[in-house]
Amino acid sequence: MELVSSMTDYTSAYRQSVANPEEFWGEIAGDFVWKKKWTKVLEWDFHKPEVKWFIGAKLNITENCIDRHLAGQADQVAILWEPSDPKEGAKKITYRQLHQQVCKVGNMLKAHGIKKGDRVCIYMPMVPELAFAVLGCARIGAVHSVVFAGFSSGSLADRINDAGCKMILTADGAFRADKKIELKKIVDEALEKCPAVEKVIVLERTGSQPVMKSGRDCWWHDEIKKANDRCDAEEMDAEDLLFILYTSGSTGKPKGMVHTCGGFMVHVNYTFRTVFQYQPGQIFWCTADIGWVTGHSYILYGPLSAGATTVIFEGTPSWPDMGRFWQTIERHHVNIFYTAPAAIRSLQQASLSFVEKYDLSSLRILGSVGEPINEEAWHWYHKNIGKGKCPIVDTWWQTETGGIMISPIANVTELKPAYASFPLPGVQPAVMDEKGNEISGNGIEGRLAIKFPWPSIARTIYGNHQRFKETYFSTFPGMYFTGDGCRRDEEGYYRITGRVDDIIIVSGHNLGTAEIESAIDEHSSVCESAVVGFPHDIKGQGVYAFVICYNKPQDEEKLRREIRDTVSKIIGPIAKPDKIQFVSGLPKTRSGKIMRRILRKVAEGDTANLGDTTTLLDPAVVEEIKRGALE
Ligand code: WT7
Repeated sequence: MELVSSMTDYTSAYRQSVANPEEFWGEIAGDFVWKKKWTKVLEWDFHKPEVKWFIGAKLNITENCIDRHLAGQADQVAILWEPSDPKEGAKKITYRQLHQQVCKVGNMLKAHGIKKGDRVCIYMPMVPELAFAVLGCARIGAVHSVVFAGFSSGSLADRINDAGCKMILTADGAFRADKKIELKKIVDEALEKCPAVEKVIVLERTGSQPVMKSGRDCWWHDEIKKANDRCDAEEMDAEDLLFILYTSGSTGKPKGMVHTCGGFMVHVNYTFRTVFQYQPGQIFWCTADIGWVTGHSYILYGPLSAGATTVIFEGTPSWPDMGRFWQTIERHHVNIFYTAPAAIRSLQQASLSFVEKYDLSSLRILGSVGEPINEEAWHWYHKNIGKGKCPIVDTWWQTETGGIMISPIANVTELKPAYASFPLPGVQPAVMDEKGNEISGNGIEGRLAIKFPWPSIARTIYGNHQRFKETYFSTFPGMYFTGDGCRRDEEGYYRITGRVDDIIIVSGHNLGTAEIESAIDEHSSVCESAVVGFPHDIKGQGVYAFVICYNKPQDEEKLRREIRDTVSKIIGPIAKPDKIQFVSGLPKTRSGKIMRRILRKVAEGDTANLGDTTTLLDPAVVEEIKRGALE
């Protein structure tokens, strides 16, 4: 099917996708390799909830990501790997080599008794073998459950047990900046609590010489040597499980989101090609870790199914120095660069000379994902990285949605900084009020729901369909509830205002924390901020802001006045922070999300009882914040 390449195309594709979704997605799905065609495109009932796409169709996603490219582009680079230490040198893996490696992994898994439907846990650093492992599972129909290699042994054990994994693929260690993390040790600790695990296959990466438990543990290099490089692609039903990926919920227990083969493939391929306007031959770099959904959808399955060259980056943006991203873009002539606002803000703090040292002229399109991007970071990114010439696609989606849902289309949609703009074709958002009624028209604000299924919607929470129903389909019966708040402006542009549990109601006015943060960040001394509500005698809730400055403030009171004025100017006096605490860091999860729950406790004056802090990246930050808490 022809892709959208103008606003007129967009409007007509969107109309078709709403008027006749089955015809719309059926046409898109026609461009893939199916072993057997579907008998019906869609069956659904959001009350149950139940969603099935491409009923009766058979496929293997790896044939679509690899085999079908062998005819014309076998020698094109599929994976461009940039190691943690730039001195180690990049590696290029062509589609032909990728095919061989994935087949070998498939055979290695089979040799150890893994069959279609078995769950395999993958806990590895960002090396090419991680991609081979994921795709090797998909090749033989095993369900992969990738756990981000920054998670602790306890979190790993919970995820292994919840999914009932029989096997772990891991590495001896991982490089993080100039440090080595002993991954295998973490796995050993986790496995004390995981009796069902029979096999651990260990890739040698850092040479840490871990203890190998005989009968259970074996080396990747020994096993892969024995494996043949031809492996038939298992025939999968469109609705068979492709993977489980855990995401945090409002309770302590993580939710294993389940994605299936057919719909996921169609959606991530379509959105990859549409949003980024991908052209054959381009180099695409998504800086996420494959441990998150962004890596599943837009490092692996989206780009590979489109025959692109995808960059896998093992390093961190700040090592050996703050120029690492820009150096890597220059080195590999990256055309499309997709990263997170948190990364942009942290690099924005560094001297511009780190950017100016490198030739970024290969860049065509920039992307942002994971949280609302504040206007200041947006402009910095646009001006200094895109040199004013590259559109920024601010892509809104979730682990649960599998692929991008609301986003500008590069070079098609007229951009508005901090707006995710319009729903992609096939996506039908609804803005809901507190009573559960859809708000029509523009210039409105409410909670974001989706009223019609899209192909890559998660099908359930692994082993807990009831929780799936309660979390996503009960707030607004008959609709999928995203948990986000949004505004639809006069021109119909969507702006995601943050999780609705982050809404502060001050004197009866709804204020999005992200909106206030964005305003605070406009002050030239401010680098980053986080806002939470706290109980206020008169207003109900007050605004408490934690603020990081580029330099330690000379006159704190003066700066507080200026920040209040800035917010007052941008949003209105109602949003002025009541309290401003200057901090040197914010409590974040390893995925970079601010743990507002902790900040809320501090703001409430309840520092004795901060709840579970095990997923914190840097616990020292919390101690500092507690000490500086304002009365
Ligand atoms: C939540 C989902 C999407 C993959 C990575 C995160 C927030 C995500 C945006 C955006 C504003 C965004 C939402 C969403 N979010 N992208 N472009 N603008 N907010 O996946 O960990 O499942 O988080 O991230 O709040 O609900 P996730």
